[in-house]
Amino acid sequence: MSNQSQTEIQRQYLEADAELVRDLSVSYGRPLGCCITTFGCQMNAHDSEKLSGMLAQMGFQEVAEDQADLIIYNTCTVRDNADQRVYGRLGVLNGLRHKRPGLKIALCGCMMQESHVIEKLKKSYSFVNLIFGTHNLAHFPELVYRMYHEKGPVIEILDKDSGSAEELPRIRHFSFKSGVNIMYGCNNFCTYCIVPYVRGRERSREKEDILKEIRDLASDGVKEIMLLGQNVNSYGKNLENAVSFAQLLKESAQVPGIERVRFMTSHPKDLSDELIRVIAEEPKICRHIHLPVQSGSTEIMRIMNRRYTRESYLDLVDRIRAAIPDISLTTDIIVGFPGETEEDFAQTLSLIEACGFDSVFTFEYSKRTGTPAAVMEDQVSEEVVKARFKRLLDTVKKTGERAVGRFEGQVVEVLVEGKNREEGLLTGRLSQNLLVHFPGEESLIGSLIKVRLDECKGFYYLGSRA
Ligand code: 5AD
Ligand code: SF4
Repeated sequence: MSNQSQTEIQRQYLEADAELVRDLSVSYGRPLGCCITTFGCQMNAHDSEKLSGMLAQMGFQEVAEDQADLIIYNTCTVRDNADQRVYGRLGVLNGLRHKRPGLKIALCGCMMQESHVIEKLKKSYSFVNLIFGTHNLAHFPELVYRMYHEKGPVIEILDKDSGSAEELPRIRHFSFKSGVNIMYGCNNFCTYCIVPYVRGRERSREKEDILKEIRDLASDGVKEIMLLGQNVNSYGKNLENAVSFAQLLKESAQVPGIERVRFMTSHPKDLSDELIRVIAEEPKICRHIHLPVQSGSTEIMRIMNRRYTRESYLDLVDRIRAAIPDISLTTDIIVGFPGETEEDFAQTLSLIEACGFDSVFTFEYSKRTGTPAAVMEDQVSEEVVKARFKRLLDTVKKTGERAVGRFEGQVVEVLVEGKNREEGLLTGRLSQNLLVHFPGEESLIGSLIKVRLDECKGFYYLGSRA
């Protein structure tokens, strides 16, 4: 079936769902509430915005979880603690179910693509009403319809996309900034990572479709976009008319009305010189590259199947900094990958010292069933992992504070993103992705303004309008 007729069918289901929600609202004497909780990455956040958009069209209002008639967990399975949080919360929902007749519980996202999870849910959490995977988003209206009409749990997990969800409604959480998916899936098979198994093979969207979406967002008032993909550097390689990520990035920044472009995530193995040049030449492209290194040891990188070395990574960092001196670099580190020795770990610490990252996202290695690393010998003991993790945090804090403080005293442009928890303060984001809190009027939210960075407070600044 063509994508177009698929979308048409789903639109009809949306209408049928809306009717159903209307009827239920009449019988309850109040609007129906829904609550989506999103775990994990930007991709999931983007998928949740799609779910919100569709639910709003059905007539649901977003409410707190304890008020909701439909509760959705959009799950992540990159690390085991994300899985455990979902199981924990399901336990709590089981109690809520008895107090809220008619409550529906739905689970979606990456965790649902794993067969052992589905088995466990069927066995121990059979009260869940709807379960669907990462490839079923485009079928959501139909799935909701079935959930309200069928008795047992509705389970739909596909291995491949069931159609495009791009044309379905979406509610953006911010009016002035938005994520834009440029590709789905991943082909890299890092040996610790579950993503290629749960998100499938790499698929790039057509450049013209992406640019149209960006133009539409711009005409809707969006000033900043974030191009999203598991590895944006391999964008476009498999399209019929091959196109590079650098080219897409450049054209995205040229869309009238777009003031800032970000992107995430870049794999160090194939970050091109062309990309470095495009960022250096185009001021609208934000001065921030998230460049996950995972470990500082060439041997561990090899066993992780990262396809770069300590030397090539350090060389890449040098080349980026030479071409774009005001760039901010951030990274991800996994501690305790199987076989990691004290010497390997020391190399991770020294690489962090050498690179001057603004921030480092730190993770304890988590064994994911089905990945090659899960069955490797030499798993590192929990005790050693915990001790190393603590040392890692100390290093990250020290180097981060040193790096972040480099702009103190300067006047910079920030996008005002919202109110700070502290009364009267706004929060703005620098091109470098750093935050500054400063006194200002709420009406400034969504605009680009100049702020003086008066004082660095470690990972953020306190400032004033310039
Ligand atoms: N264990 C720990 N961290 C992991 N990541 C991915 N898989 C695992 C795992 N099995 C981390 C990597 C990746 C980030 C998104 O999550 O650092 O870059
Ligand atoms: Fe996972 Fe590696 Fe793909 Fe990133 S590049 S999603 S870490 S397999």
